[in-house]
Amino acid sequence: MKGLILSGGKGTRLRPITHTSAKQLVPVANKPVLFYGIEAMAAAGITDLGIIVAPETGNEIRAAARDGSAFGVSITYVEQEEPLGLAHAVLTAEEYLDGSPFVMYLGDNLLRNGISDLVQTFTTEQPDALILLTPVPDPENYGVAELVDGRVSRLVEKPAQPATNLALVGVYMFTPAIFGAARSITPSDRGELEITDAIQSLVDSGSRVDPHIVHGWWKDTGQVQDMLEANRLILDDLEERIDGECVDSRVEGRVVIEADARVERSTVRGPAVVGAGASITDAYIGPYTAIGENVTIASAELEYSIVLSGSTVRDLEYRIEASLIGRNVRIGRGPILPKAYRFVVGDNSEISIL
Ligand code: G1P
Repeated sequence: MKGLILSGGKGTRLRPITHTSAKQLVPVANKPVLFYGIEAMAAAGITDLGIIVAPETGNEIRAAARDGSAFGVSITYVEQEEPLGLAHAVLTAEEYLDGSPFVMYLGDNLLRNGISDLVQTFTTEQPDALILLTPVPDPENYGVAELVDGRVSRLVEKPAQPATNLALVGVYMFTPAIFGAARSITPSDRGELEITDAIQSLVDSGSRVDPHIVHGWWKDTGQVQDMLEANRLILDDLEERIDGECVDSRVEGRVVIEADARVERSTVRGPAVVGAGASITDAYIGPYTAIGENVTIASAELEYSIVLSGSTVRDLEYRIEASLIGRNVRIGRGPILPKAYRFVVGDNSEISIL
């Protein structure tokens, strides 16, 4: 069995971060989202991986994941020249897949329990396709499935009036039957060949499409709020480890402080991770925060946030919350201007300066 990870796309909902970096390389708990997918494949015993990349971000993704040997897998890169949809991506990889059954994994998805169980189920049950589903509160934002007698009967991409709350998770298992199905469909309203429509075409032609309901959390990290939530969920499973230096500081709960990081006169309250070479001084790092490599935090407070490598945050009066701060960003105070008040105030007035 082969693996196909889709790592193209423009990441428009994560701009401006994705103006300069692929969305699949934005780190969650200091590790690029894409690496969780590669590791999930490796853990399921899939070592022959194809990664679909876009021309704009391909080099960056190649530079990060390389030949895959660091993960115990072998990676082949396949370029998709235009983002014409997930089914189009599958067709682009047809030659690489070479008749093998495969797991398709959207590179910005995170699944807590990995994919080993599904690969097992797919191998023993041998359906034509197996799709992952999970109940969500906002099915209109996803592909939505209807089931009859335990089989998939209908799939609709982002329906205005969803028939169920079962969303398609971004992991699919296919036999080569998917290629004919992908060729039989036409572009959707957003101009893409939808994988959801290709699977519907399999159903229509009488192929067996099995559902698998996901237990444990799943996140599509396409938007900032999802990214912060994914960071929270991953950090929740963190194991404490202090390799860096802590001076006159309080480190509470599950915290990782990487080597060459220095925490001085500060409080770090976990779950939180402080990357290698970071410097935290006179600061507070609150729960569910990931501080990247070589980040400087001085006289500032952060909570439930992600700060990417090389950034500096200093001298802030208020706490930073629910924020995603990119690479090499500088946040600080400008020069303090002289301040004054001048009033002409009537009788019986009341003025509060807050
Ligand atoms: C894609 C699929 C959708 C699926 C979702 C999962 O949506 O088209 O069916 O539910 O991934 O992450 P997109 O992220 O392209 O909007």
